[in-house]
Amino acid sequence: MEVLVRYLTKKRDGAIATRDALVTCETVRFGRSTDNEVELPAPGVLLHEGVLHKRAGGLFFEGEGEGRNNVTIDGQPIASGPVKIGSTIGVGPYDVIVLLPQGEAEIALSVELVRPVGDALTTLRNNSVTRLEQSAIGKRSLGWGALAVIVLAFLIWPLIETYGIGGGDAALSKNPIEMALETKTWPIAADLAWVTGPVSGPHKFFAQNCSFCHERPFVRVQDSVCTACHAEINFHVDPKVHDLPEVTTALCQSCHKEHQGAAPITRQDQTFCSSCHQDIERVAGDTKLRDVTSFGTDHPEFNPTVVVDAAAKTFARVRLDKANWPTENSNLTFTHKKHLNPQGILVPGKQQRRVMDCADCHTTDGGGTGYSPVVMEDHCSDCHLLNFEPTAPTRRLPHGSVEDVTNSLREFYGDLALRGGADVEDAPAVVRRRPGGRSLSQEERLEALAWADKAARDAGARVFSRSACGTCHEVTRTGDGPFDYAVAPVLVVDRWLPKGRFDHSQHSSPGCVDCHAAPDSAKATDVLLPQIETCQACHGGEAAVQRVPSTCVSCHDFHLDFHPPMRERVRNARVEDG
Ligand code: HEC
Ligand code: HEC
Ligand code: HEC
Ligand code: HEC
Ligand code: HEC
Ligand code: HEC
Ligand code: HEC
Ligand code: HEC
Ligand code: HEC
Ligand code: HEC
Repeated sequence: MEVLVRYLTKKRDGAIATRDALVTCETVRFGRSTDNEVELPAPGVLLHEGVLHKRAGGLFFEGEGEGRNNVTIDGQPIASGPVKIGSTIGVGPYDVIVLLPQGEAEIALSVELVRPVGDALTTLRNNSVTRLEQSAIGKRSLGWGALAVIVLAFLIWPLIETYGIGGGDAALSKNPIEMALETKTWPIAADLAWVTGPVSGPHKFFAQNCSFCHERPFVRVQDSVCTACHAEINFHVDPKVHDLPEVTTALCQSCHKEHQGAAPITRQDQTFCSSCHQDIERVAGDTKLRDVTSFGTDHPEFNPTVVVDAAAKTFARVRLDKANWPTENSNLTFTHKKHLNPQGILVPGKQQRRVMDCADCHTTDGGGTGYSPVVMEDHCSDCHLLNFEPTAPTRRLPHGSVEDVTNSLREFYGDLALRGGADVEDAPAVVRRRPGGRSLSQEERLEALAWADKAARDAGARVFSRSACGTCHEVTRTGDGPFDYAVAPVLVVDRWLPKGRFDHSQHSSPGCVDCHAAPDSAKATDVLLPQIETCQACHGGEAAVQRVPSTCVSCHDFHLDFHPPMRERVRNARVEDG
């Protein structure tokens, strides 16, 4: 029979060159030697690899003995088998494809070197490896098999274990994570594969409800989920002033990792803060802040907030500098020194001394973090009695506005004059008469009221002077009228270091006076705060060993309440999306 053998060679430029050979033969032999009808002259191909016959049912390829490893038929590593038009017989690096018979040729074959090999060694290596397609399982079945294993191991088994057999309704009411952790069965909980780690402590109360955070499957948790609850979370810097994507556009979860279980959900490391604060000018050009890397070594001295003008409510942030210590101006007059006299201070009216300590005036507020404001009625009026009339020593003025005080004085003296019975020496007879009895004539009334008016004015002059209100307040005349006085507004700060955190309840051990030099303070304008070195005696940086290890967030909030809320960012982003 005639056989067309078409040799295809790929040229360098990618084009294919063909060379046809028409051979006459009984069987078509394949092999490296030149006596073969199909010549395959590559190293690694045996002299004789096999023979293609024509049989009753069609063509048949028969491999020859040792040639087995080298031959595949239609990708199957079988040495012998039927072939038809379109079949590929792989012999070593060659593919021989059975083509449609052409012209006189009964059989047409194309021969192409498709797997060129480098050298004999590589060939040998290749020949000694069992390829996937040479194994009994095909690629497809392997794929399905793997999928089945995955579904079984990671979906069905966990489902059965978590919700199924024996679990009942109780199991259904739990979430997979808790179930997995509680019911550790063989040898690990089946659904460990699902477990991302328990939701953080503060979020445990809704952790069951995965869809609270995971609104849609396969979509990242959105910041809007977080800001829906954390509406009061503010920026670290004002995004209109600073262009710092690390803190202004970063996602909540970039700093707050969920599913870490008991681990804190916030970043605590001081390198995070010092990445900017060790050279703050680099990120915030004309900032007034100074550089910080660690509390233990280079944290700047405190700049407390002090009142400059209590009436106008203006403040300044002034550094605690020994050489130039700040003062404040609350408009109150006070001296810690006299009141804290170790021999005690005289209690008026009771010829005895009372030794005072801090707690007599400074009572801790609810949580013990700070102190409640000092209040005149609670802390001072035992000794600074607002009495005004020597003949009525138990009568007190209200501690209030000038108007209240004025009205009280007028009422008191008016009532006294009309009722009679006043024990005042130079008062007219009508005021000193026995109370009750006859009603007054018009003339007597006028005389009594004239006296009352003068008495109230005189009392006002005494009261608003240094002897009463003026002891503690700056009192000024506002006009020529008898009651034209003004008490300067009082403003006592209660957060001196608003940008740091300080909790008195955690500092019961050093005495008050180790941090506040109150017993030596003669004036209310003194600022009685400790310098940073007092804190550094006990607090070191994050990695301190001898001192209390303190990272930046031990003392600082990151989300600063004087900047805009971050939820606005989310809202703006939404608008842009829409
Ligand atoms: C407090 C909110 C919150 C709750 C509640 C929550 N997750 Fe998450 N989860 C997150 C965040 C944030 C991520 C980080 C990756 C992301 O954006 O999806 C995450 C990631 C994951 C991931 C990994 C996906 C990934 O992209 O890395 C899985 C799985 C997951 N959660 C499952 C659960 C399951 C199950 C529950 C309910 C038991 C649950 N979560 C409850 C906030 C939550
Ligand atoms: C259903 C409301 C709710 C959602 C949604 C929510 N949280 Fe919370 N979160 C809370 C509550 C309540 C607390 C505990 C009270 C607190 O410390 O303020 C808390 C606490 C926190 C804390 C402080 C943890 C601590 O140790 O003090 C951080 C940080 C936090 N959440 C971040 C996030 C982030 C990020 C998201 C979005 C993935 C988020 N939260 C979603 C309610 C929520
Ligand atoms: C991406 C850079 C960056 C990171 C990270 C960063 N900060 Fe800041 N921080 C700034 C900038 C910028 C300012 C504002 C400077 C200014 O306006 O003068 C600032 C201001 C401050 C202030 C002073 C606020 C004021 O107005 O007086 C404190 C306190 C502070 N940061 C502490 C921290 C702490 C604590 C951390 C870590 C938890 C931290 N920062 C992380 C950039 C950063
Ligand atoms: C008789 C009452 C009284 C006693 C006792 C007293 N204080 Fe005060 N203290 C005041 C008053 C009033 C003010 C507000 C004065 C002002 O306007 O600054 C004040 C303010 C302060 C302040 C903040 C104001 C600043 O200037 O720094 C500190 C701190 C303070 N006292 C510490 C102490 C300590 C510590 C003791 C005990 C050793 C003490 N005080 C005892 C009445 C008292
Ligand atoms: C236990 C009695 C007592 C209490 C309580 C008391 N004081 Fe006094 N205070 C006195 C006495 C006594 C004097 C006179 C001391 C002197 O001149 O030596 C005085 C003097 C003053 C002076 C004048 C100081 C000076 O240098 O002349 C002022 C101001 C003052 N007290 C304010 C207050 C304030 C404000 C409170 C409440 C926070 C208060 N006092 C609570 C007993 C007390
Ligand atoms: C022993 C000191 C003392 C005397 C005397 C005193 N005050 Fe006061 N006064 C205070 C203190 C302390 C405060 C701030 C705390 C408070 O409101 O009790 C205050 C607050 C005030 C305020 C409120 C100021 C503001 O801006 O909030 C007025 C008004 C006032 N006093 C009026 C008077 C008048 C009027 C008198 C005289 C009749 C007087 N006080 C006598 C100590 C005193
Ligand atoms: C370790 C140092 C330290 C010790 C000890 C200490 N304080 Fe303070 N105290 C501070 C600092 C720091 C502030 C400023 C806190 C702020 O601005 O939040 C302050 C603020 C105050 C204030 C004014 C602010 C307010 O909350 O009204 C009073 C009053 C005060 N301390 C009283 C006391 C008394 C009383 C004691 C003793 C029982 C005491 N302190 C012990 C450091 C200390
Ligand atoms: C032991 C507590 C503590 C630790 C730890 C601490 N700080 Fe402070 N820091 C303070 C206090 C208190 C202030 C004063 C706050 C004020 O003036 O209102 C302050 C002020 C600042 C300021 C403002 C400085 C200025 O120039 O006015 C910056 C910025 C700052 N801290 C950053 C940091 C950084 C970053 C870290 C971590 C490396 C850190 N702090 C660690 C307590 C601390
Ligand atoms: C006598 C030692 C001592 C001094 C001085 C001292 N501290 Fe502390 N401080 C402590 C101890 C101890 C703790 C508790 C630590 C703990 O509970 O882990 C603490 C806790 C704190 C905390 C809470 C930390 C946290 O992680 O919750 C802050 C904030 C703080 N101190 C700030 C200050 C400041 C600001 C000063 C200076 C005004 C100061 N401390 C001075 C010993 C001291
Ligand atoms: C660049 C880092 C960063 C980003 C972004 C960030 N945080 Fe924080 N957050 C922190 C740090 C650091 C703390 C710890 C300091 C503190 O306790 O204030 C914190 C504390 C918190 C706290 C607890 C303390 C508090 O002030 O109540 C909540 C809640 C919180 N963040 C929510 C959020 C939410 C919601 C978002 C997203 C809108 C967010 N955070 C984005 C760094 C970040």
